[in-house]
Amino acid sequence: MQGLFISMEGPDGAGKTTQIELLQTYLADKGYEIVLTRDPGGTVISEAVRRLILNKEYHEMCADTELLLYAAARAQLVQEVIRPALADGKAVISDRFVDSSVVYQGIARDMGIEKVYAVNDHALRGLRPQLTVLLDLDADEGLRRKCRQTELDRMEAEGLEFHQKVVEGYRFLADREKGRILRISATLPKEDIHAKIVLAIEERILNR
Ligand code: TMP
Repeated sequence: MQGLFISMEGPDGAGKTTQIELLQTYLADKGYEIVLTRDPGGTVISEAVRRLILNKEYHEMCADTELLLYAAARAQLVQEVIRPALADGKAVISDRFVDSSVVYQGIARDMGIEKVYAVNDHALRGLRPQLTVLLDLDADEGLRRKCRQTELDRMEAEGLEFHQKVVEGYRFLADREKGRILRISATLPKEDIHAKIVLAIEERILNR
């Protein structure tokens, strides 16, 4: 069996976790051994970096540091977890991946997409998901959903304007990379979203 790499993207509050759970069941039924992971995170070192990045006390963290820390967490995740799993023919589902850096740091923080790719080239060495699902949701609705759930972390605590740039950034990226990124409205019922994801996997990957 060939390895399969799928990432789930979207603004905070879009419902990625629910869709990842449904996708996991679907791929397991197809016979895949599943590796679930999250970015930043997924290894002991990357989870430590995650705590550093999202700690609200570090409000002085500059954009360059943030960009490099996300890339550092990702480098460890790629080398320790994702590449070995793909080499073993497993299906890797990642809650966020490099597109989050492109959108949050490159577009919302205004650092520029090219700079984000340049830094992340070191972390990825050519690795990209075969399919990226974008759960598309307006920023105000995403924040409303998130505020109901938890205390906000350093990124979530950014203002509405930042989160609007994130949403616009994702839409821009999805238009630019239609072959890889599947954009689905996060306001649809969860079963409908899942059905669209399954269809895309079958059409674009499994039955090609
Ligand atoms: P999570 O809570 O969805 O796991 O994501 C952590 C936060 O980090 C979320 O607000 C998005 C943000 N983020 C970036 O800004 N850049 C990145 O490269 C990644 C992976 C996440």
